[in-house]
Amino acid sequence: MKNTIVVGAQWGDEGKGKLVDVLAEQSDLVVRFNGGGNAGHTVMHAGETYKFHYMPSGMLHNKVCILGTGVVINPKDLLEEIDSFTSSGHKPQLKISARAHVIFPHHQLIDAKGGGKIGTTGRGIGPTYSQKASRINLRMLDLIADDAVDRIKTALKDVRDMLIMDEIFNEEEFASYCEAVSTEYAGFGDQFKPFITDTEDLVRIASKSEEQVLFEGAQGTLLDLNYGTYPFVTSSSTLAAAAFVGGGAIPGVPIRILGITKAYTTRVGEGPFPTELEGDAAVNLREAGHEYGATTGRPRRVGHLDLYALRYAIRISGIQELAMTKIDTLALVDGVKACIGYKIDGNEIDYFPADAPTLELVEPIYKDIPNITSLSKEEWLTLQGKAKTDLPDSIQSYIKFIEDFVEIPITILSHGPERNETIVF
Ligand code: GDP
Ligand code: IMO
Ligand code: MG
Repeated sequence: MKNTIVVGAQWGDEGKGKLVDVLAEQSDLVVRFNGGGNAGHTVMHAGETYKFHYMPSGMLHNKVCILGTGVVINPKDLLEEIDSFTSSGHKPQLKISARAHVIFPHHQLIDAKGGGKIGTTGRGIGPTYSQKASRINLRMLDLIADDAVDRIKTALKDVRDMLIMDEIFNEEEFASYCEAVSTEYAGFGDQFKPFITDTEDLVRIASKSEEQVLFEGAQGTLLDLNYGTYPFVTSSSTLAAAAFVGGGAIPGVPIRILGITKAYTTRVGEGPFPTELEGDAAVNLREAGHEYGATTGRPRRVGHLDLYALRYAIRISGIQELAMTKIDTLALVDGVKACIGYKIDGNEIDYFPADAPTLELVEPIYKDIPNITSLSKEEWLTLQGKAKTDLPDSIQSYIKFIEDFVEIPITILSHGPERNETIVF
């Protein structure tokens, strides 16, 4: 097997960062292909915690890490992330696609004003992708051009009327914004020059050689712009297919598609969540799993494992195998259930509703699951290298139940946030 695509199989925060860190050891290139600073990918190793919003989670292995064309970039935030990583003694080997689009402060201001009903991360993601689609945005290659200041001023003219009409700026504010941001962003261009290149070419050359490329998805399949719980989604494609469009993966090169799922479900922001827990049960699970957003710090909504939604995600993203995270957290709570279907008006349905208001109304069909055996960190570590049949019965049967329902195998079990708290079957 040559290349691997890692995608979230739920609504994000499944533990993609941790798994990419684990898999990066065997990889030569690690490539982010969608989203921007809305992502928050946590890697814990040797007692240190790293939260990557932009930089691929292969950074700790000193691998060549790429931000592909499908990523949208706030240069200021990315520079801060590079600086903080460098000052902790690391040397990022980062390459950035010349074609990746730039997030400007006005995108964040638009997002802050209009993103509330979706509960966006406020990072300017939606406005940037929408101006990209309108063909009025700038790319990283524009920031490094000799006439960057002029390019930025010209692009801002295209959005001037909209920014004034939407009361983001008045005329005077716009004029001074235009001056300040064009100089500031051209300055960022100077700093980014050494990083910017034709990243697709690097991926293509690696894919045709013996090198292994690891593609790191952001967000989760159910937040996909086309197939997620629209309009409560992000603004990019989060499917494995997006690695081809936004990361330079090549059709025809053997590829493994690994989906990441928690042993339960979480969601940040607004939108339907059929298996959501309320009250004490929600508090217990949230606290047991420290379920607070890595990007915004918001408390994550928590719920039972929704196998019906997971199976949908597996089918639309073409996921071939699963890594399941946070089994150690699930072991800390009682009353575990798995959702195996939805009812509408008392009748079981056989499709995943595309309509968000309909999905709000579905009644989950649950199967009770025996409580998951709680093991100490040390007991877990003794299971390294063992087979599924060596796991405690409750965990074996949870895994088997999930595999039978979703019809693909769980090949990795994660039982803690650290790199070594991972069992590969
Ligand atoms: P990502 O966005 O998919 O990379 O996930 P996040 O980093 O936003 O959230 C996952 C959180 O779970 C992080 O705090 C991880 O350190 C943590 N985590 C990952 N796997 C496990 C696990 O198996 N057990 C526990 N307890 N924590 C985990
Ligand atoms: P990672 O990569 C969880 C959610 C937001 C909001 C919706 C739209 O860490 O899994 P956006 O700012 O993208 O326009 O917000 O999508 N969202 C995420 N939820 N994990 C993420 O990324 C997310 N990125 C966006 O909370 O509901
Ligand atoms: Mg996250």
